[in-house]
Amino acid sequence: MPDQEWWREAVLYEVYVRSFADSDGDGVGDLRGITARLDHLNDGTPASLGVDAIWLSPFYPSPQHDVGYDISDHIAVDRAYGTLADFDELLAAAHDRGIRILVDLVMNHTSIEHPWFVDARSRRDHPKRSWYIWADPRPDGAPPNNWLSSFEECGSAWSWDEGTEQFYLHSFMPEQPDLNWRNPEVREEMRRIWRFWLDRGVDGFRVDAVHRIMKDIDLLDNPAEIAQARRHLSHPALRQRNLDLPEVHDVLRELRAVLDGYGGRVALGEVPMSDDRRLVDYFGGDGMHTAFHLALWEQPWNGTAFREVVDGLAALMRPGALPTHALSTHDIPRTAYRFGGPRRARVAALLQMTLRGVPCVYYGEEIGMTNVPPPPGRVHDVDGRDPVRSPMQWDATGAGFSSGTPWLPAGPDLAEVNVADQAADPRSLLGLYRRLIWFRKRSAALRRGTYRPLTAGDDHFGYLREAPGERLLVALNFSSGAAWVDLPDDLGCGGRVELSTRPGREGRDVDLRGPLLLAPDEGVVVRLHDEEGS
Ligand code: GLC
Ligand code: MG
Repeated sequence: MPDQEWWREAVLYEVYVRSFADSDGDGVGDLRGITARLDHLNDGTPASLGVDAIWLSPFYPSPQHDVGYDISDHIAVDRAYGTLADFDELLAAAHDRGIRILVDLVMNHTSIEHPWFVDARSRRDHPKRSWYIWADPRPDGAPPNNWLSSFEECGSAWSWDEGTEQFYLHSFMPEQPDLNWRNPEVREEMRRIWRFWLDRGVDGFRVDAVHRIMKDIDLLDNPAEIAQARRHLSHPALRQRNLDLPEVHDVLRELRAVLDGYGGRVALGEVPMSDDRRLVDYFGGDGMHTAFHLALWEQPWNGTAFREVVDGLAALMRPGALPTHALSTHDIPRTAYRFGGPRRARVAALLQMTLRGVPCVYYGEEIGMTNVPPPPGRVHDVDGRDPVRSPMQWDATGAGFSSGTPWLPAGPDLAEVNVADQAADPRSLLGLYRRLIWFRKRSAALRRGTYRPLTAGDDHFGYLREAPGERLLVALNFSSGAAWVDLPDDLGCGGRVELSTRPGREGRDVDLRGPLLLAPDEGVVVRLHDEEGS
C-alpha cells in the first residue's frame, strides 16, 4: 500500500479535546493532557490500543457556545487548551509514535465573535458584509424564508441583527453565523487556513457539516412538505434548498486538489445524511477520501438491520470507496447506552473492527462509558449532547482526568468503568478492543480484504472477509439467548476462533459442517482452515 493511502488501513480515534485529559487542573481537557496520554492510544505494543490516527475536535479560540464548533480564530489555539507550541509538541510526539493527526475543519460557519463577523455586522457596506449571508425580512417582518436551524432549541435559521436591520443565516446556533461560500474571498481565505494546518504537518481534516456549505442562491423556501425537517430529509421528488447542493462538490474538489498537492493527507467527511444514495457522492471520488456512514448510527440492535445498512451502502459506493464506521461520536449516544448494556458494546466493537471500512473509536468507547446526563444547572449543550461528552474515565477516582473539578461530571460507574482497572484485566472491554485492533493490524483480510455477506436474521449477522491466504468468518449474535447460525457449505469444515467477545472461546477449533452455535451476546472471528483442512 503506498503511504499516501495509509488511511485505508488505519484505525482512527476521536479525541474530544475538552473531555480527554486535563494537564493543568482547570477541569478542562487540553493539548498537553493528550500528549501525556499517547501511551494509551499507541505505545507500539499490544498493551496499548494501537490506533493509527487521532481526530482532534476543535481546539481553536472560541467562545464555546458549541464547544469549539464556533471558531473565532482558525489559526490559533484556545487558551484553555494550550498554545500553538503545545500543538506542535503533540503533533511531534504523536508522529514519533506513528500516530497521525487530523484536525477538525469547520467551514460552514464561524463564531459570532470572529473578527470577520464583527466586521460584517458593523455596517451594511463593510467589505466583509458579503462574507456571511444576509437578507431583509418579509413584508410582515418575519425571517426571509422557512429554513430551520439544525437544533430544535434554536428555531428559525435566521436571527435579526439590530444594528444593521437585516437577518443573518445560521444553520446551527445564532452564535454560529454561516459563511457565504459563493464569495471567492471566503474561499481564498479558507484555502489559506487549510494550508496553515497542512504546512504545520497535520495529516488531514475531519470536515464538519460539509453538506451545508452551499445554499440556494435565491434563498428560496424549502418545499412546504419537507420544511419542518431540521436536518437532511430524503423525499422521492423534493430537495431541500439549504443543504446538499451540487456546488458543495466544487469546494470539496478544491480541497482535494490542495491535499493531493501535499500527499498522504486525508479528508474525512462528516455528512449527516442518512440517505446513502446522496452520501456516496461525497467520498471515494475526486472529493473527500472517506466519510462517516451515518445510517449505521440509526440502526436498532438487530442483525438484519445491520446487514441491510452495510450492504445497502456497499452496493451504491464508487468502486474502491471506503466508508468510516463510528459507533458513537460527540454527537451520538454512547454505544453501551444506545444498545442496552456492556455485552452488546462488545459485539458492536467486534462488528466495527471487522467491517470493510475505516473504524473510528470515540474516546471512552473502549472502556464502555455510557451516557452521563449532567445534573440540572450544569447543562452546556443546547442540543442535549452533554451526556456523551463526560470526562474520560482514566481511573476509579476521576483524578486521572483532572486534579480539579471536571467541566462535566464523570459517570456514576467510574469505580468499575475505567482505564486503569480494565488495562489490568484481559477479559475487559479494553482488553477486547486491544486484541481486536492488534489482530486487525496483522490481518490482510480485515485491513484490505473483500467482504461477502453470508447470513442475517433478527438475532444474527455473519460475513466473510477474505484476502489471499486468509479467510475470516465473522459471526455476531444480536440476542441474549444462544443462536444457531446457518452457514453456506463452501466455507470448508472448520476453523479456529481467533477472537470472541467471550474470551474463554478464543483459540478453540470449531466445526463448520453444521450451523455455528453462538453464546448469548457473542461475536466471533473464526479463521477458516484451508481446503485441505489444515
Ligand atoms: C457537527 C459537529 C457538531 C456541531 C455541528 C456544528 O455536526 O459534529 O458537534 O454542533 O457540526 O458545527
Ligand atoms: Mg486544562
